[in-house]
Amino acid sequence: MAKAALALNADIPESPPLSPPLKWAGGKRWQLPHLTKYWERQQRRRLVEPFCGGLAVALGLQPETALINDANPHLINFYSWLKRGLRISIEMANDAQLFYEHRERFNQLLRSGRESTREAASLFYFLNRTGYNGLCRFNRSGEFNVPFGRYTTINYRRSFTEYQRLLRRWEFSNMTFDQIELEHDDFVYADPPYDVEFTQYSKDGFGWSEQERTAEWLANHRGPVVLSNQATPRILKLYRKLGYKLVKLSAPRRISCTGDRSDAAEVLALRNL
Ligand SMILES: C[S@@+](CC[C@H](N)C(=O)[O-])C[C@H]1O[C@@H](n2cnc3c(N)ncnc32)[C@H](O)[C@@H]1O
Repeated sequence: MAKAALALNADIPESPPLSPPLKWAGGKRWQLPHLTKYWERQQRRRLVEPFCGGLAVALGLQPETALINDANPHLINFYSWLKRGLRISIEMANDAQLFYEHRERFNQLLRSGRESTREAASLFYFLNRTGYNGLCRFNRSGEFNVPFGRYTTINYRRSFTEYQRLLRRWEFSNMTFDQIELEHDDFVYADPPYDVEFTQYSKDGFGWSEQERTAEWLANHRGPVVLSNQATPRILKLYRKLGYKLVKLSAPRRISCTGDRSDAAEVLALRNL
């Protein structure tokens, strides 16, 4: 009996996985059982995530060292404060009036060049949890313009000190993917915006030429690569042409706003694994 208990304990990871603190479109927590298989034998390497989004993959794989990047500056500012053990002191409630006041204050901070402050990170967290569908959208003048959400209850977190230990040796950067300098033995997990005509991830958009550049950039990397995307015919053709090994996955089904069930086939494209 005691032996069985010991064996069970040996299987428990050192620290239980921390959940992604934000809501973010395209979260890949569901891929973790697949990714763990590749990561297990490589976990001494630095993990590089050029498109980290909601951080589900890095928090799930728990690397010792990592380079975590995203083109969204507010996301990266929030993670930089997470690393410093963010504690939120602004008022937080699921209330429309408070939401619009905080949205205005957030935009004021952006206008006055104070987008890297703890207050901006705290407001970003509140707006993400309280706004419509966790969207992150800006108008042409660069103002955050997501409306109030429709949640019945929201559990806000005020202290993020739990994240500090895991993130201690992670580096965060805010650049477009092809400015990242890879080290030759990095393990790269890349989850670019899906290959669809319209995406809402970035005000600059991510078109077919960015899909090609991502695939070509990583095809030249000497370390292990896992590239994730929607399995559209042109994506499969591109990845095959560049010599990736393809593993098709079936994602949890997403239902579009018109009620159509969208194609849920996804692909992992592998190299040096
Ligand atoms: C599919 S999401 C990543 C989701 C993430 N794997 C998760 O589990 O939450 C794609 C991310 O790419 C970012 N992005 C868009 N264009 C980019 C670019 N040119 N360079 C770097 N990141 C970019 C978006 O801000 C978005 O967070």
